[in-house]
Amino acid sequence: MELNRSNCLKEFHYIGTGLFGRDEMNALSRSVAMGIYSLRLELNFRIRLIDAKPVHESLELVRNSYHNEELIVLRDGNYHALRFKSLKLWGGESGKLAGRTLLIIGGGSGIGREYARYVASAYPDTDIIAAGRSPGWQGGSPPANIRYLTLDITDEQQVRAFAAGQGRNVEYVLNFAGEPAKGLFVNKTKAEFCERTRSKIQGSYLLGKYFGHAREIIHFASVAGLIGAMGQTEYCAANAYQSGLAAEGGRVRTLNLTGWEDVGMSAGKADYYFEKLHSREGVKLIDRFVHSGVMQASMLKLKAPAEDYSSLFGRSEPAADVLSRPSAASRPAGAGLPAMQGVAEAWKRTLGEDHYDTELSFFEQGGDSISIVQLCDELNRLFPGSFDVTTLFSIPTIRGQAEFMEQTVRTPVRQAVPDAAAPDAAELLDFLRFQKI
Ligand SMILES: NC(=O)c1ccc[n+]([C@@H]2O[C@H](COP(=O)([O-])OP(=O)(O)OC[C@H]3O[C@@H](n4cnc5c(N)ncnc54)[C@H](OP(=O)(O)O)[C@@H]3O)[C@@H](O)[C@H]2O)c1
Repeated sequence: MELNRSNCLKEFHYIGTGLFGRDEMNALSRSVAMGIYSLRLELNFRIRLIDAKPVHESLELVRNSYHNEELIVLRDGNYHALRFKSLKLWGGESGKLAGRTLLIIGGGSGIGREYARYVASAYPDTDIIAAGRSPGWQGGSPPANIRYLTLDITDEQQVRAFAAGQGRNVEYVLNFAGEPAKGLFVNKTKAEFCERTRSKIQGSYLLGKYFGHAREIIHFASVAGLIGAMGQTEYCAANAYQSGLAAEGGRVRTLNLTGWEDVGMSAGKADYYFEKLHSREGVKLIDRFVHSGVMQASMLKLKAPAEDYSSLFGRSEPAADVLSRPSAASRPAGAGLPAMQGVAEAWKRTLGEDHYDTELSFFEQGGDSISIVQLCDELNRLFPGSFDVTTLFSIPTIRGQAEFMEQTVRTPVRQAVPDAAAPDAAELLDFLRFQKI
């Protein structure tokens, strides 16, 4: 295709499955989709991604009007637009790195080295192996509890041999490996494009393959994988792969980072869309994510222009015909305004002031197994005795909760969990810990 030159395309729709869903996720499909999405910044036509099951007619989907929405999920006949939601991170697993053996890939320089230093000093009995392709740790000598070794995570032989030898006691793998992109997509050969994705795609895949014995693998990716970045399609695709891995389930977690001002690949470079972070605060935020148990999060602070950069930042409720119209089948007859408003208020107090889709689950809009306990408290403050946490797990949407509330009011003797089956607090927390969210 003659990109940007002789084509007369107005819109390009990429329709696939497993792009954004929690129940169904494929890291490679997500990587391809987000790579394409990032191309909207280099091309003169609109790019829209639609996560839909293959049973739907593609032609019909393309004919819909989505207004300014760019990332759409179609489920059970309903359309949803994707949005960032603010997330409160709780240090639910505090102290978990103390006394452990850590492998920090990319720990010899940049952000990885700063975090390795922070962990070495905050948890002095931790044994840290910092690794990278370079022959040595950069910048002075490492603290006593950090040793550096040379390892290229894109080299399967090296990763296999290390994991079976020195790396067999590694309990946490923290992966900071990555390479910045180089220039516009149109000017790149396929080989150049792929080469720049290898540390994140092949590297992350091989870490998953050979560190099955680790308690967790945490990838440090970039928000570029979610929103795109001009001239960085391969970087966006590679980072989207890492965030897709976390959403696939298992012991893999991903934190999407914003730009850092003083260390790493974007040190000293201006950022028009996001406020840059200093490593002094950054390492503490990384540490909070590491100890939160949250599977995936993004760390960013917007400058005003970012609102126009991606529909993911849009605040207003979509006015679109298709997007704002819940199907008749999905609209419960009884869910009236006061209950809906009350439930929405409780969500705002739990997750932060924002617009929440009434049909999407709490977990897809920033909630997790810890904040759902807070939501339960907030709901019971408004509607005393109506909710328990187990019920909220099975009814995770605003509309469902409003409907449930109204039924409870109509049937006051209703008891969701019989006394004999009511778990005590400790059991409940254990139950939450193993919920797949
Ligand atoms: N800096 C930012 O503003 C920013 C923003 C968002 C996200 N991030 C992400 O944060 C992570 C760290 O970035 P950074 O800014 O600290 O970049 P950096 O200074 O370039 O560090 C990347 C590190 O990864 C190592 N590495 C790269 N490929 C490797 C491989 N195949 N095997 C082993 N180690 C490898 C490099 O060491 P060797 O060269 O010695 O191999 C280096 O230590 C990256 O994943 C990046 O995408 C950074």
